[in-house]
Parts: sequence; C-alpha cells; structure tokens
Amino acid sequence: MPIQTSTHNLVQDYYGHQLQGTADLKTSACCDASTMPEWLKPLLARVHPEVLSRYYGCGLVCPPLLEGCRVLDLGCGSGRDVYALAQLVGPEGEVVGVDMTDEQLAVARAHQAHHTEVFGYSNTRFLHGYIERLDELGLEPASFDVIVSNCVVNLSPDKDAVLAGVQRLLKPGGEFYFSDVYADRRVPPAVRNDPVLYGECLGGALYWNDFIQLAQRHGFADPRLLEDRPLEITDPKLAARTGNLRFFSATYRLFKLAALESACEDFGQAVIYQGSIPEHPGRFVLDKHHDMQTGKVFAVCGNTWHMLQGTRFAPHFNFIGNFDTHYGIFDGCGGNLPFGARSESSSGVCGLAACC
Ligand SMILES: C[S@@+](CC[C@H](N)C(=O)[O-])C[C@H]1O[C@@H](n2cnc3c(N)ncnc32)[C@H](O)[C@@H]1O
Repeated sequence: MPIQTSTHNLVQDYYGHQLQGTADLKTSACCDASTMPEWLKPLLARVHPEVLSRYYGCGLVCPPLLEGCRVLDLGCGSGRDVYALAQLVGPEGEVVGVDMTDEQLAVARAHQAHHTEVFGYSNTRFLHGYIERLDELGLEPASFDVIVSNCVVNLSPDKDAVLAGVQRLLKPGGEFYFSDVYADRRVPPAVRNDPVLYGECLGGALYWNDFIQLAQRHGFADPRLLEDRPLEITDPKLAARTGNLRFFSATYRLFKLAALESACEDFGQAVIYQGSIPEHPGRFVLDKHHDMQTGKVFAVCGNTWHMLQGTRFAPHFNFIGNFDTHYGIFDGCGGNLPFGARSESSSGVCGLAACC
C-alpha cells in the first residue's frame, strides 16, 4: 500500500473510530476555556454540544477582521472552528470545511440546519477530501482570504502538497493562520511509525526549523509565530515512547505576499495602530513579537510593513516611511528554538528563525 494511503487509513481510523470525544486524547493538546479570549466564548456557546464534544484542535484559529471573508478550514473535523468562524465572517462571508473522515464530517453536517437557525443565515459548506489534493475539490484558485487549520498538517504524509495547495488557493494578501504540533528536533522513525503517537499528532510533527524551510519553499518567506505552549503527554507509557523529544503546540501565520524577504530588513519604517479593529481596541497583536498599542509609534521591518499594508489590516494603520533607504538587517532577529521565549512586546523586534 502506498505510504500516503496507509497514513490516511490510520488517521481516518483514529479520528473515525478510536476516539469518541475530546476526553479520549492522550495529550494536553486541546486548549481549555481559561485560555479562550472573552469575545470568543459567546460564539462557542452557540455551537452545538455534539460538535464541541468531538473537538480535537490544539490552538485558536480565529484571526481578527474576518467579516465578509471567505475562509477555508483544512481538516475541519466535526466543525467547531467552522461554526465559530461562520459567525465572524457573517452572512456576507463563507466558511468551507474539508476533511477526509466520514464520521467527523457526518457530525459537522448533521448540525448545519441547527446552526443556520441559531445564526439566522447559512454560510458553511463541508467537503469530503484530502488536504494534499485540494485541486480535486473544484475550489477556485486565489479565492480565499484566510485559510485556517487546527492540528491537522502534522497528520499529513505529504506536507509539501498541503502548502502548495494553500499557496494556490489564497488570494494575494491572504493568510494561512493555523495551529499545529511541532517538535524541538526531527522525529525519529520509531516515534513516527508508532500508530498511536501518529494519531495523537506527535509522530508526524515537524521539527520547527524544517517547517520554516517548508513554508519558504512554497513562497511563504517569513512565517510569523503567534503563540506557543509546550505539550504534555498525559499518558505516562506513551510519554516514555517519545524519549527526549519535546513537543509544542504553536500557531503560525503565513502571508501570501510576493514582496516578503527571507530576512527582516530595516528601512527605518514605523506604523501606528488606530485601534479600529473590532474586539481589539487597545492593541493589535500581529505575532509573538509585534504587540502594537493603539496610537503608539511602532518600528517595523520591511516584511512587517508589507504584512500590514498589503493585507486586510491596511485601513487600520498609519504608515510612516518608505523603502527608499536600507539600513541593514532589522535588529534583534533570533535563530534559536522560537518556542517558550518571552515576548518582547512593543520593541519592534522580530524573534523568528525565518528573520535571519
Ligand atoms: C486532530 S483532528 C482536528 C480536527 C479539527 N480541526 C478540530 O479542531 O477539531 C484532525 C482532523 O484532520 C483530518 N485529517 C487528517 N489528515 C487529513 C488529510 N490528509 N486530509 C483531510 N483531512 C485530514 C482528520 O480526519 C481529523 O478530522
């Protein structure tokens, strides 16, 4: 059997039959309510309990400023994030969920009518398909403002194909905003080939620096890390099988912007956030190293400038400077393990491996 098919079969069996609900997971991957922003809680309260009970995500994939957007969710499972995002994009937007596991999609689809009634509009679609073969789904190239995914890319046996599909389907200026599991080193074959560790989103996890290279290979020159936390493997027998590996759940955003460079370059630019994005009046957090307070001048590299000026965020910023003079590399870029380090908020520092 080709490796891709056997991996798909293993994962379909894990999420279609082995797991019956969130509590069956053997890691601390799923976020608890304490880490949930207040504005998201009423949205999730409107999602059907059966959908919530089969949530297997590892982060929050609800970026700001989604009203009217077209959003695609890769590996949507029972549809928790689709139904949360459906409320954020509103009646003028659309959210499309893709998953390969019939049992997961059946739960998502069973509650579509319920959510239409609760929201007062219908703006969701669920497609059966493989995230490595998005071209088979009849989706228009460059037609999505935002693509999200929650704890799925690690499960794919062909991550290059996934990133190529994302690059094809995003509009210019769009972003791939996704949470996933990463390892602090390359996962050895004994861990990768363990079916339970694979199903639990550990065996297929990328070493974080290999993920950076993967993203760059597919035109996402400067991946931005937004949030991360260490994962605890709650089953001690399973933990023992992973040796010294450390796993992290992390949320990255990858912007489809042709102008981005692989290093953060200094052109002496700055931006001022206007405080006008709904639910974010006091500050705008672009990523772990860019926490911009409303009204305050914030020094940025050329890439950050593009991420704000070439995207849906542009109307909410004042832009100071231009690209006329280059001052060298943007100060403070790091090249070490990006997870766990404290944010240097409001310093305008890029702390991403991809920056240098
Ligand atoms: C860890 S669960 C996450 C589900 C959902 N995102 C959530 O947060 O509840 C992984 C999901 O991805 C789906 N999946 C895994 N690999 C896939 C692939 N190659 N193509 C399509 N779906 C996939 C599985 O069927 C499963 O529903």
